[in-house]
Amino acid sequence: MNEAPGGRRRVFLTGGTGFVGGHVARRLAQRGHTVRALVRDAGSAAVLRELGFELVEGSLPDDLPDGALDGCEAVVHLVGIIRERPPQTTFERIHIQGTRRMVEGSMKSGVGKFVHMSALGADPEGTTYERTKYEAEELVRRSELPHVTFRPSVIVGEGGEFTGLLLRIVRYAPVIPVIGDGAYRLQPLDVKDVAEAFVQAAEREDLTDESFDLGGPHKLTYNRVLEIVCEELGLKRRTVSVPLSLVRPLVDLASSWRLPTPITSEELTMLLSENVIPGEGTRWREAFHIEPTPLRNVIRRLTEDDGGGA
Ligand SMILES: NC(=O)c1ccc[n+]([C@@H]2O[C@H](COP(=O)([O-])OP(=O)(O)OC[C@H]3O[C@@H](n4cnc5c(N)ncnc54)[C@H](OP(=O)(O)O)[C@@H]3O)[C@@H](O)[C@H]2O)c1
Repeated sequence: MNEAPGGRRRVFLTGGTGFVGGHVARRLAQRGHTVRALVRDAGSAAVLRELGFELVEGSLPDDLPDGALDGCEAVVHLVGIIRERPPQTTFERIHIQGTRRMVEGSMKSGVGKFVHMSALGADPEGTTYERTKYEAEELVRRSELPHVTFRPSVIVGEGGEFTGLLLRIVRYAPVIPVIGDGAYRLQPLDVKDVAEAFVQAAEREDLTDESFDLGGPHKLTYNRVLEIVCEELGLKRRTVSVPLSLVRPLVDLASSWRLPTPITSEELTMLLSENVIPGEGTRWREAFHIEPTPLRNVIRRLTEDDGGGA
């Protein structure tokens, strides 16, 4: 076991049943921390139970059991959504009210470090997702809690929705549809690097009251992302551009009627905007001593894991 430098801690984890949360959970366990996890349904949190975590049933923002955070030295707060399902599941309720509940609970229980998940592009003038992510960051910043906030670009790896979609589309679609010109850029980031940064932030006392943009080693256009996946799977695929003038009205209409679509209006807006760290973007790598994994290596790892079955 690769034990924590500052000793074992008692950590409270939210979002541990999710994609990023699963990886953070395993890294916390590897480092020997004692973890209490908030879960909505203990019956579907077998992995966390197997890791030896204590499970507390509840949901945000309304149902965080009293005293749930008592005795915890650090909180890792990952809960977030990408799609709204009103009236219960809205960006406002989950991102803002949920974070407020966690911040208040942490203050009351005397938590010493709040490690917060935001998103690259969090912005008071952005989409509702981006605005509510920004406001949640502000709640954390303005609290008296020592904190670290992370703002990642798109995260890739085992269990990731975006990664799964890329692999499926390249494997099974004879022609790959690309919205617009595909020249919009992302900075895909390995979920294992994200997990390492979160765990260090919970452990290290020298990291406090900081925000870090997180991104992978390369800023890639969406077209280049597809090329890399094709190269790694050893497949040749043609792409076809679907004009934005066609996609946007359809997605907007479907979103306003709350019909299920592969992409929402918000996601479309965010996809088309630059989701890359401004400038060099190396501050986080230096702070956490992480050499981020290239997308190509993540795809290779995933396809080797499943027998290379392209
Ligand atoms: N994935 C990315 O590329 C990416 C990029 C930037 C930022 N982020 C942020 O990273 C965080 C985690 O993302 P993810 O991709 O791991 O998402 P995910 O797989 O959908 O996981 C979300 C987690 O939040 C929990 N959750 C949702 N609503 C809840 C509620 N009302 N009360 C308590 N728990 C609730 C889910 O629990 P259940 O299992 O019960 O549903 C799950 O554990 C989010 O804040 C997201 O905005 C993600």
